[in-house]
Amino acid sequence: MKDLSELQSQIESLKAEIREHAEKAANSKGLYELKKSFLDSKQGKLSALMKEMAQVPAEQKANFGKAVNEAKQWALGFFEDIDSKLKEKEMKLRYESEKIDISMPAKMQKKGNLHPITTVRNQLIDIFAGMGFSVYEGSEIENDYYNFTALNTPQDHPARDMQDTFYLSPEFLLRTQTSSGQIHVMENTKPPIKILSPGKVFRSDDDATHSPMFTQMEGLVVDEGITLSDLKGSLDTFVKKVFGDETTTRLRPSYFPFTEPSVEVDVSCFECGGKGCRLCKGTGWIEILGAGVVNKKVLENCGIDSSKYSGFAFGLGIERIAMLKYGINNIKMLFESDLRVLDQIDD
Ligand code: PHE
Repeated sequence: MKDLSELQSQIESLKAEIREHAEKAANSKGLYELKKSFLDSKQGKLSALMKEMAQVPAEQKANFGKAVNEAKQWALGFFEDIDSKLKEKEMKLRYESEKIDISMPAKMQKKGNLHPITTVRNQLIDIFAGMGFSVYEGSEIENDYYNFTALNTPQDHPARDMQDTFYLSPEFLLRTQTSSGQIHVMENTKPPIKILSPGKVFRSDDDATHSPMFTQMEGLVVDEGITLSDLKGSLDTFVKKVFGDETTTRLRPSYFPFTEPSVEVDVSCFECGGKGCRLCKGTGWIEILGAGVVNKKVLENCGIDSSKYSGFAFGLGIERIAMLKYGINNIKMLFESDLRVLDQIDD
């Protein structure tokens, strides 16, 4: 049998135990564990006192229960007091550690920008898309037929020497020009045709203005009644958008096996306005691309009736346009990925 005075002293010693340990709790988590060890309904030392009710004489049961409940209430309040003090301390520490010094200098964030070749390529595509051109991207590996023969440059044609070729096998090569795209498109599309074909081309050529790999953009228009003046009109619009409203073009006779007549296109010098300067080497004009009226033989090679249709084509080097636009005098600067150079070229 258990009596009340015995219970009372048990309660007092548990209270003392709670006071002693709770004061020492390092943090709210530790305190929570401590609280559980006294008040958990299954394992708590205080809660366990209730289980002894069975051994208490009937007339003392009510007082016994009351005493245990009071002790539990006291413990709950006591734990809560200490818990709120600990939590306050913990919050303070957290705020302290998360404090931001707004007077600190900011970390420098490097901003990326598009490579000048991509920028120029996008700009050119935008301009020609506005004139109704769509983009056709061919493949960098071509066979001899598409890169040369179909473009009216058979095996023994001297014009093959104009483009020093990287052959992968007697039949396959790295395309030397995006003109190969013309053939693929004309073989598969009926006129009217209006395409742009941008992409990498390869030639065994290496100096300040030439690189073994560079980027070309081909333009091709085939329809009824297309003439050289359509070419001139399109290119005038194009140079004004790229180099400024005051610029114009001039056509000089040239030779390409796949165009007849063929022209070399110059833009009036945007640096000196045509008076003559270092950029235009005193001539007032800068050569920017090759072009011409599509040779009837090329149309026929692709199954297009040359008595009904005619076309013009042009091919330009994107690096050359980028070098002119950004005043770069060595093509290598575009390929070395030197951020000190690229950072300065941001449109
Ligand atoms: N393919 C020629 C070159 O690479 C450029 C060109 C394209 C000329 C289309 C005329 C017509 O030099």
